[in-house]
Amino acid sequence: MSELIGVVGAGTMGNGIAQVAARAGYDVVLRDVRDEFLQRGLSAIDKSLQRDVDKERLSSAEKQAIIGRVNSTTELASLSNATLVVEAITEDASIKTNLFRELDQITSPATILASNTSSISITKLGAATSRPDKVIGMHFMNPVPVMKLVEVIRGLATSDETYDKVRTLSENLGKTALDCNDSPGFVSNRVLMPMINEAIFTLYEGVATRESIDGIMKLGMNHPMGPLTLADFIGLDVCLAIMNVLYEGLGDPKYRPCPLLKKYVDAGWLGRKSGRGFYEY
Ligand code: CAA
Repeated sequence: MSELIGVVGAGTMGNGIAQVAARAGYDVVLRDVRDEFLQRGLSAIDKSLQRDVDKERLSSAEKQAIIGRVNSTTELASLSNATLVVEAITEDASIKTNLFRELDQITSPATILASNTSSISITKLGAATSRPDKVIGMHFMNPVPVMKLVEVIRGLATSDETYDKVRTLSENLGKTALDCNDSPGFVSNRVLMPMINEAIFTLYEGVATRESIDGIMKLGMNHPMGPLTLADFIGLDVCLAIMNVLYEGLGDPKYRPCPLLKKYVDAGWLGRKSGRGFYEY
């Protein structure tokens, strides 16, 4: 496959996307602003692929070939030949908008610009470019190598042609693409986050312990993780940001973030990544 996929952001989602694209045979350029972020991303890819080598589902040679297809760079200009760029940087609307403006300038007019945003408006990102018909949401789930879904979000101006290409690409990556229209939280986080927020309210109000809340949802609903464990896994700052997008975007008090979630984020208790959230790590 000669297509080049650009990935901007080497964090958890970005390195996962780069990994699945390289594993599917695509050449990948992974860009981040600092070498240390790239190194961290590449070592996460190495570790994730090594799981499959250890389980004898991948040979060491195949692993090396996959890693060899991921080129890392701090230069945005290295993405100029990409047929599609997936943005997976920090969840900040103005930083993302600026990046889309830059990507619009450096890539070919035919390049599709996709965002892995979990809740920011695709229509707004599209409006920052001269090609809103080629701007689309490709929302991967964490952990990217394991989760089958790509939630594909059509902005107001996204063309059917762009959608068809992104659906085909998602299938080539071994994923199932399911589409929805641009709306705060899309479908995934519109449904998931209020459940997590409600679980935090039950903890806040003393309805049950963290273990009971998680156990009830795991054993009773067959969820792979309880909602508080899942919140720690996603990051409490991310959960709070998404609740705020729902609250502000839909203007309904039912989406108000639980005060306990705000308090934890203020304390720097962000979940797994900071060593403490609803649980200690
Ligand atoms: N890379 C590669 N493989 C991984 C992995 C990673 N980072 N993490 C787990 N795996 C693999 C394991 O190797 C294992 O593979 P096999 O069963 O084929 O051997 C499999 O996943 C299961 O892993 P474990 O046995 O270690 O642990 P588990 O059974 O508890 O599963 C889990 C872990 C897949 C994360 C599972 O707990 C789960 O599905 N949790 C819910 C995840 C979820 O809801 N994600 C969506 C979050 S929301 C989001 O991402 C979007 C947003 O906008 C906020």
